[in-house]
Amino acid sequence: MTSKPKIFLTRRLPPKTMDRLQSDATLLHCDLDRSVTRQELIDGVKQADGLICLLTDQIDAELLDVNPALRVVSNYAVGYNNIDVDAASARKIAVTNTPDVLTDCTADLAWALLMASARRVVEGDRLVRSGQWQGWEPLQLLGAEVSGATIGFVGFGRIAKATARRAHAFDMPIRYWNRTRLSPDQENKLGVEYRPLDDLWGECDFLSVHVALCDQTRHLISTAAFEKMKSTATLINTSRGPVVDEAALVTALENGQIAAAGLDVYEQEPLVQPALLQMPNVVLAPHLGSSTIKTRTRMGDLAVENCLAACTGKRPPNLVNTGLTGTAWS
Ligand code: DGY
Repeated sequence: MTSKPKIFLTRRLPPKTMDRLQSDATLLHCDLDRSVTRQELIDGVKQADGLICLLTDQIDAELLDVNPALRVVSNYAVGYNNIDVDAASARKIAVTNTPDVLTDCTADLAWALLMASARRVVEGDRLVRSGQWQGWEPLQLLGAEVSGATIGFVGFGRIAKATARRAHAFDMPIRYWNRTRLSPDQENKLGVEYRPLDDLWGECDFLSVHVALCDQTRHLISTAAFEKMKSTATLINTSRGPVVDEAALVTALENGQIAAAGLDVYEQEPLVQPALLQMPNVVLAPHLGSSTIKTRTRMGDLAVENCLAACTGKRPPNLVNTGLTGTAWS
């Protein structure tokens, strides 16, 4: 390809990313401060060599069929459950994501939710703002002790490991479950102990969810898990909403099966179970895991690099469908 690749971008990204795209690509669509409609997505993809999209854009077979010449779907996220990867592979379209650059940022947010839930920071903020605060009280807004409490990780990839590093600073025993168990050496090095899922639920004071969303993990945390958890436990979810059965979570909180939750993600974003909105023991963030200027800019760098590489016949650095054949680089 001698001329600049035509890239369809579904929503405006940080300024540095936009500058790069404007200089190295022909931008088909940008500068929108709202989600694209399905029709806009179809029209854009029709003309593009590459697509840069968001986790809120559904990329399915029907969409991919509108342009047999599309080379790449570059997701501006590490999670890519919004993309039908098999459909892309069948059409020889590369799928890419933005791993690593958001690991610490998301771990920080998991930690912020954990601390805020445990120490009732949001409730305290509301009390102070309400003008009803009468001063220090011995029994006011008593929370859960974080230091020394046991934390369990559901999934133990990059973000979970980064969150676990933070837990060490709080002297917390660390348990984890992962589809693939680490070697004894790795477990020793990281100071973590493996538990089968069934044993993890009941042992931990805090449970932090870090699995990718797929058929096997949808509603992984549901009634059966909540029934085994400590009544004092707090659930933190910064992965994907549908990993937790939100209706079952509401029931567990209502019945006192667990004590609290800190959520960054929801089953049907931006909708949230109405009952959760009423619960003072639930801290709700609007999917902020990667939302710092530095991280969102680095995600932009990766999304552009991945897209430009595939459009110019090179293997993108963060290829998801690694077994792809029949491309310029394979
Ligand atoms: C991701 O990248 O998957 C996060 O959920 C949003 O940054």
